[in-house]
Amino acid sequence: MRVLTMGTFDTIHAGHIGLFNQCRRLAGDSEVIVAVNTDEFVTSYKGKPPLVPYASRAAVIQTLRTVNRVVPNYGGWQQPLLIAQVAPDILVVGDDWAAKNYLEQINTTQQWLDSKNIQLCYVPRTGNWSSTAIKSHAVG
Ligand code: CTP
Repeated sequence: MRVLTMGTFDTIHAGHIGLFNQCRRLAGDSEVIVAVNTDEFVTSYKGKPPLVPYASRAAVIQTLRTVNRVVPNYGGWQQPLLIAQVAPDILVVGDDWAAKNYLEQINTTQQWLDSKNIQLCYVPRTGNWSSTAIKSHAVG
């Protein structure tokens, strides 16, 4: 089962490691691919760039043993193209997104995922770790 997960990962923390571990368990011997939001994409919906630039966020994630491949997520309408190109069996996201409109965030619909045979899987968040909380603590 090829697994794709997508996110900003602006300061990697134990919650992200937990997410990647869950992706690895679902993937078994197949690939875990992480799509990392580009600085431009993050700026477009957060109004400011991430603390850590894309190249550094991607480089840290690429060193993890649970992860096979990192790809850039340019956001918007390019997301379905990226997902179709990666062609995962499972798209994984933390369950904080279950109450929000994740499909809208990634510019897709359930019908589109079904047509590609991609299963959306919400996994439990690991602890209370949050990049936003870490960054606000760091800057005081
Ligand atoms: N995630 C997780 N466990 C956590 C924090 C995040 O499983 N404790 C997951 C999210 O659900 C998402 C992915 O990690 O699938 C990327 O989330 P991201 O927004 O980059 O991390 P957060 O720490 O949630 O960032 P923020 O606080 O800015 O929302």
